[in-house]
Amino acid sequence: MNIKVNGKRTWDELEQLSTFSDTPAPSVTRIIYTENDLKARNYFKGLAREAGLEVREDAIGNIFARLNGDDKSLPAIGTGSHCDAIPHAGKYDGTVGVFGGLEALRSLKEGGFKPRRPLEVVFFTSEEPTRFGIGCIGSRLMAGAITVDHIHTLKDKDGLSVDQARAAAGYSGDLSSAILPPKYYEYFVELHIEQGPVLEREKIEIGAVTAIAAPASFRIHFTGQAGHAGSVLMPQRKDALVPAAILIAELESLAKNSDSPDSVGTVGVVKVHPGAINSIPGKVTVEFDIRDIKLSTRDGIVHEIHRRARQLAEERSLQVEIEMINSDPPAISHETILQAIEESATLQGYSKMRLVSRAYHDSLFMARIAPMAMIFVPSKNGYSHRPDEYTSPEEIERGVQILAMTMSKLSHA
Ligand code: GLV
Ligand code: MN
Ligand code: MN
Repeated sequence: MNIKVNGKRTWDELEQLSTFSDTPAPSVTRIIYTENDLKARNYFKGLAREAGLEVREDAIGNIFARLNGDDKSLPAIGTGSHCDAIPHAGKYDGTVGVFGGLEALRSLKEGGFKPRRPLEVVFFTSEEPTRFGIGCIGSRLMAGAITVDHIHTLKDKDGLSVDQARAAAGYSGDLSSAILPPKYYEYFVELHIEQGPVLEREKIEIGAVTAIAAPASFRIHFTGQAGHAGSVLMPQRKDALVPAAILIAELESLAKNSDSPDSVGTVGVVKVHPGAINSIPGKVTVEFDIRDIKLSTRDGIVHEIHRRARQLAEERSLQVEIEMINSDPPAISHETILQAIEESATLQGYSKMRLVSRAYHDSLFMARIAPMAMIFVPSKNGYSHRPDEYTSPEEIERGVQILAMTMSKLSHA
């Protein structure tokens, strides 16, 4: 069968989707279980039903749209990604994999393709850590990679629990029912924008992702003593922000000088109490995000930051508490899927290369329960998590085309 996806349709849907945002265009902000997230969900479900796909949702709000094959009982070929967007993000992170996945199934169906194994696209809940502090809640739960008890401890900045927030969004039921049964997916393949500069720099159209870097994140809370910025003399101070600032600078140097070129360390959140220019910071929380393809290097940096946090607190007579958020191993892609991606690209005459993903994705957790790989398409200037994130309609169409061809191949593999 001659597979031909409709990239224009996906492009138009991504444009429409980008209007469901808490911040004005060109930025997109879509936080899990908010009104705009619900609009995105309804939009996706409506299109999937219109396309004749079978739609279901689980207790945490992962949405599944399925094209059944000859044998409904066979494990499915899965794809999908996320539609939540961090504050002031762009239009394409995650969304290309959700609406591209929809387009792959829809165009295969329209073309009369009969899969042997079912094909399924997933709209994952909360890949971004924005609301509840930890990323990939939906895919972690599906893979049994987070306990229901752990999910019950999560709270948003207003103190709302996941249960309260999902109930307000219309999702109920026992969270453990969202854990997938064994061998649910035969293979899982996610389409995503690269979010980095490699494909553009190398002038390559399709990336076959061989591994996803290992992410870890944690909070460090320092407690000192607040006080008047004018009247407390320097020897008497217990400033909780200074050790945090030292640690941030040390993180930069640890990541730059590690034994791996893939080490990255970021502090994107610092909360200072009471937060006044004329008050000594009494309580500070600082959030660290540290990643590497090499797990031992990543863990080495994490442990060194923890050690230094305790040491700085002791030297300065402060209290310190370290709260781990996540510490996940890397995922390695499966050769069968990588080859299916590469063969599809060759058939289409698209240039291709293998590369690693430095960002994490829901596929990091799908890899725990199924052979996994990812397809990357170029990101202009490597930009992502910012409003000027851009991938052209042609580049997106090529990615969707390769996704459709790869899924059709795997469905008969
Ligand atoms: C996902 O958005 C990540 O932070 O890698
Ligand atoms: Mn993201
Ligand atoms: Mn993403």
